[in-house]
Amino acid sequence: MGCMQRPPVKQLYPQLMELPAMTPEARAKIEHDAQARIAAGTAALAQAQNDYHHAMIANDTAAMATAMARQRTALGEMESGTAALRALAEGQPPRQIALTWFRDQMNLSPAAMPVEGAVGPLGISWLHLVSMAVVAAFALTMAAGAIARHRRSVALVNQLTRAAPATKAMPPIAEVPRVMAPAPPPEPPRSSAAPVRTKTWTGKLRVAAIVRETPHVKTFRLVEPTAGPIPFTFMPGQFLTFSTEADGRTIRRSYTIASPPTRNSYVEITVKREDEGEFSRFLHDKVSVGDTLRVSGPSGLFTFDGGGADSIVLIAGGVGITPMMCVIRHLTDQSWPGEIFLVFAMRSTEEFIFREELEYLQRRHPRLHVAATIGARSEGTSWMGLEGPIVKDTLVHAVPEIEKRRIHLCGPPPMMEAIRGLLKELGVPQDQIKTEAFGPATGLVPPSRPSPIPSPPAPVARLLEKVNTDAADLPPSAAPGPATAIVSFARSEKSAPMPPDKSVLEVAESIGVPIDYSCRVGTCGICKTKLLSGQVTMEVQDALTDQDKAAGIILACQAHALRDIAVDA
Ligand SMILES: Cc1cc2nc3c(=O)[nH]c(=O)nc-3n(C[C@H](O)[C@H](O)[C@H](O)COP(=O)(O)OP(=O)(O)OC[C@H]3O[C@@H](n4cnc5c(N)ncnc54)[C@H](O)[C@@H]3O)c2cc1C
Ligand code: FES
Repeated sequence: MGCMQRPPVKQLYPQLMELPAMTPEARAKIEHDAQARIAAGTAALAQAQNDYHHAMIANDTAAMATAMARQRTALGEMESGTAALRALAEGQPPRQIALTWFRDQMNLSPAAMPVEGAVGPLGISWLHLVSMAVVAAFALTMAAGAIARHRRSVALVNQLTRAAPATKAMPPIAEVPRVMAPAPPPEPPRSSAAPVRTKTWTGKLRVAAIVRETPHVKTFRLVEPTAGPIPFTFMPGQFLTFSTEADGRTIRRSYTIASPPTRNSYVEITVKREDEGEFSRFLHDKVSVGDTLRVSGPSGLFTFDGGGADSIVLIAGGVGITPMMCVIRHLTDQSWPGEIFLVFAMRSTEEFIFREELEYLQRRHPRLHVAATIGARSEGTSWMGLEGPIVKDTLVHAVPEIEKRRIHLCGPPPMMEAIRGLLKELGVPQDQIKTEAFGPATGLVPPSRPSPIPSPPAPVARLLEKVNTDAADLPPSAAPGPATAIVSFARSEKSAPMPPDKSVLEVAESIGVPIDYSCRVGTCGICKTKLLSGQVTMEVQDALTDQDKAAGIILACQAHALRDIAVDA
């Protein structure tokens, strides 16, 4: 790997300068040296490129810089060997070979080079004079570069220390070069337990690359269209909401940002293609590199940036790995000192998203522990790990003292329900568990738990009777069930019966009142609506802030009412 350093390579041209004449032995020696140089340079270049690639995946900017330097050295070695061979092939004497190489390196025109043997001022040959001048110029340039770099470093360190006066612990001085590396600057680590709210941005991002992760999952790398940095900040675990037009309708869906905030020149989403899914099929089948996508966000409170806990347990099923991957990438990018446990279940080995990267990260970060379990081994793949769903034993063996740790859970709803039960049995307090559900987004919100319905007072009952009669005229798909309350949409000047198992959003849709939505599970906040009168219950309120609640804002996709309500829609 990148830690293996070779000693600096001696340049070939000084040897050539010392060779007085071109004897056959001298020619053979130069040829041999040049070939050895090219072979060694080629091997070193391949190794350094490989190390650079790995360092890039891990966003290890220090290792990236080292690998770059090694690539430059290897290229120099190859260039010097190639120049010598070329000169030999052209039948030049050794000194001319050295000059040829030197001229190539310094981008000097042939006219600028002296004829060998011509005598210049002070009786010194032009060859020596020019060589000395070039070497002196080279040394001066290097010295000027070093001074400039030093000044820039000092300025940057001053800027960084001024920008973070409130941070008690200064990073050890040895970490400073990581910050100064040419890679995108990482965000300063946050240390509060409370999620930091990020400002919502709306605009377009360009698809820069599409990578197939598994037969049904693709990663889309999105960049700012003018190649600037990503125009918003986000927390690990947040998501973006995408929209497109289809058949005169706007379809919106939410996708977690799987790339970490430490890499700010792009964001990546990793999307599973649902066979009947409108948006995931649009992304998989229609979107190509170069297209732009309408995006708004970031949103969501299912976040973890390393603050407020000294270890983290991430439990994921299928594509629910995306928020966990963002957290893992973020924490490992920063060499977070806590223990990271990932317990991941997937249907089959071929559906194991990010397998190679997780294996690589686990080798590099001893505090990352991955326990993966598969439903079935796919043909042509190997698997020595766990099989079957995540059960109590899986958790007990994968995570010591799980009841003391913070837990994040994301996956298909039945799996999440089952894991919640296991965690309860293992004594994990409810407030240590954070969850995120991924849909479905087409109105299939699980009905809220049945609750006793008090009989409405007489005047309301009469009104309900009328509204229910009106509802009989609606098409069967739109007609709501027995209502216990009325919801009035003030701006649209429409009212409708409100059955207890329908949300405000669903009732609004059934009578053509427009309310924007995306996730339909209470996490994106797109359906925020003001409650003008009455009371609602909401199973999930993740997208609401305390200020929202104080201002009477509700999530239309989650709001249910047993009494009459009026909303601003
Ligand atoms: C906060 C949040 C983050 C999300 N992050 C991701 C992510 O990183 N990657 C990702 O792939 N998805 C993610 N999703 C899910 C995503 O938003 C869509 O719901 C999903 O892509 C399906 O949309 P669709 O338009 O293709 O399917 P739809 O047209 O909405 O649904 C078509 C059919 O597929 C079924 N279906 C829809 N969604 C699911 C589901 N999740 N599981 C099982 N059946 C389903 C429906 O029941 C329906 O029958 C996230 C959802 C939320 C709320
Ligand atoms: S649609 Fe996302 S919170 Fe309601």
